[in-house]
Amino acid sequence: MLIDSYDRVVDYLRVSVTERCNFRCQYCMPEKPFSWVPKENLLSFEELFLFMKIAIDEGVKKIRITGGEPLLREDLDKFIKMIYDYEPSIDLAMTTNAFLLKGAAQRLKDAGLRRINVSIDTLKPETAHRIAAKDVLKNVLAGVEEARRVGLKVKVNMVPMKNMNADEIVDVLEYCKERDMSIRFIEYMENQHASKDISGLKSDELLERLREHYEFTDDGFDGSSPSHYYTMKDGYRFGIIEPYADDFCKKCNRIRLTAEGNLIPCLYFDEALSIGKAIKAGDINAAAEVLREVVRTKPEKNRWGGEDGESSSRAFYETGG
Ligand code: 5AD
Ligand code: SF4
Repeated sequence: MLIDSYDRVVDYLRVSVTERCNFRCQYCMPEKPFSWVPKENLLSFEELFLFMKIAIDEGVKKIRITGGEPLLREDLDKFIKMIYDYEPSIDLAMTTNAFLLKGAAQRLKDAGLRRINVSIDTLKPETAHRIAAKDVLKNVLAGVEEARRVGLKVKVNMVPMKNMNADEIVDVLEYCKERDMSIRFIEYMENQHASKDISGLKSDELLERLREHYEFTDDGFDGSSPSHYYTMKDGYRFGIIEPYADDFCKKCNRIRLTAEGNLIPCLYFDEALSIGKAIKAGDINAAAEVLREVVRTKPEKNRWGGEDGESSSRAFYETGG
């Protein structure tokens, strides 16, 4: 088992397979061109799989594939199948923008993927175009429908922003509720790559607006999810993630791997150790030692809510959020 210095069991690995993306969401990426990590610096799926095996052997029980946009990487279903065949009990999930999902959902499901998280920030085509800097909504919704059809469990993320999509929180929630998909509202997190014009809706305001439409009870946290849950009278549950809090850090069970092989103990901090050299040399012991060291150095809590309103320099398109 992987246990950190604060007695937290680390059993959840998030793996970014590419930082590239076919969207330019205002809260995540600059719209103008910028330079990507060169392709040759990426770990191959064989190399990544070698590390997945080590992580599973050390006690990882849940793996989430993220990006950038993971479906931009060719043969992703084969990578998923390699993990599934090695350990079928692994809880295999993926975060995707769903643009390419319609054509891929069945293959991913057949390969062993169980669940996906998708962002639906709006149900208006023009607003979706504004947020992602591309006309994306039709494909996204078609991808979501196909994922449900093939039996993937779908969770939705929404980042409510003033003067953008905050007026749609009830509509997006209803869209999810009708389809029995859970929704989590994520407070906008300041970061150096996002558009300067964004003003995120804070959770108090969000709850106030939702209370105008629904009655619900506060369930607090559930397991190691960073999400705070609320249950409506009819049993439907929604979540809110407040990154500026640190109460969810107590139960944090996750570490992250970037597509280049940097292992990150906490999303907030810049610290990371590379598994690249060990993995490329096929040195399982050395890679396992880097993994244990990263777990050992996992910080107690983030500092999003730091006194001077600190923000992280880390790009979400590098770590998949
Ligand atoms: N603030 C909050 N959420 C973000 N995401 C990406 N960037 C940000 C940000 N700055 C979320 C998106 C997406 C997930 C991968 O990360 O909602 O669903
Ligand atoms: Fe949007 Fe996700 Fe792509 Fe970032 S990585 S631009 S949040 S789709």
